[in-house]
Amino acid sequence: MVLSSSSVHLLLSLLLHLIVIAVKSSDVVPQMSDISDYVPSVGEELWEEHYVTSCPNMQTIIQSKIDEWTAKDPTLAPSLIRLHYMDCAVRGCDGSILLDNPSSERTAPQARGLRGFQVIDDIKNELERQCPETVSCADILSTVARDATVKVGGPFWSMSYGRKDGFISKAEEMSLVPMGYENVTYLIEFFQSKGLNMVDLVVLSGAHTIGRATCDAIQDRIFNFKATGKADPSIKPQYLDFLKRKCRWGSDYVHLDPTTPNTFDNKYYKNIQAGMSTLATDHSLKIDSRTSPLINVFAESDWLFHQQFAVSMINLGDTDILTGDDEGEIRVNCNYVNQ
Ligand code: HEM
Repeated sequence: MVLSSSSVHLLLSLLLHLIVIAVKSSDVVPQMSDISDYVPSVGEELWEEHYVTSCPNMQTIIQSKIDEWTAKDPTLAPSLIRLHYMDCAVRGCDGSILLDNPSSERTAPQARGLRGFQVIDDIKNELERQCPETVSCADILSTVARDATVKVGGPFWSMSYGRKDGFISKAEEMSLVPMGYENVTYLIEFFQSKGLNMVDLVVLSGAHTIGRATCDAIQDRIFNFKATGKADPSIKPQYLDFLKRKCRWGSDYVHLDPTTPNTFDNKYYKNIQAGMSTLATDHSLKIDSRTSPLINVFAESDWLFHQQFAVSMINLGDTDILTGDDEGEIRVNCNYVNQ
């Protein structure tokens, strides 16, 4: 029997649905939301039309700036997606990662390698010129992440706006953000603390289908795994040789997806299956029985990966947002709270 591609997609969606129901009925992840919510449920306060009259060109301005910057430096696209994740990972999506002072989040070890700040500043300057004191830095970050995703071949999703910018950014609050060597229980619990479920964890980790890591992040994994003086035995030998050759210095870079590093596709999941994941946390998603079925489903269907990535990015952008009249502000300069 030959199945049409739409029947395969349907079957895979059904499979994913069943896995989620199975996980939901176990007590491991009690807050699992329904994956069948393909029509994204965004926070009531966020609104697609938020800037329609106050800054009608907002989306166009951001998109053309992303085109401009990524044409000059394509490696910025993944960095901008990560910037949004790291913003939402502490104090919610409130632009706190952008605040620039000696003890702010961006100075923490977890923020190692974060880049793209100058892109946000450039966009903010243009928005302030065209619509002063209107568009929040948190909304800029989430829109930039969407446009950067599309730029590398990932899915498009409709944006909702109305996030305000926070006043606080503390380096020590970054200490809970996973750095690449934590176990799966830690990852699940960290995501849960942000209102994100296990499907969100596995599919958003799929952002590692593009971009790179500093060798510092994998040094222990390839030279001194669990203080054994040896490499992680789960790494495919040829890939380990490659990583060792590439990582002469901690400041060198390696691709997170060694097979198609610049394309947003499901090869990340296939690499994990083949022992070619760069980060230990990515590999751990394969060996844990709670997450491995999801790795297999996304490895099987690029289409499903794209669909669910869009849904989970909307969930991410909804994390602990500030929207009330008495909450946050619209920063004039993303690096500093208003005077
Ligand atoms: C599950 C927990 C996660 C861990 C442990 C993790 C860890 C890391 C690490 C260690 C790096 C390399 C940093 C460096 O050395 O420069 C990295 C890069 C990256 N991460 Fe994650 N990450 C996680 C989740 C996410 C999520 C949810 C997203 C986005 C939705 C994301 C997107 C990225 C991207 C795109 C890069 C490449 C950045 C670039 O090329 O500049 N990560 N991640």
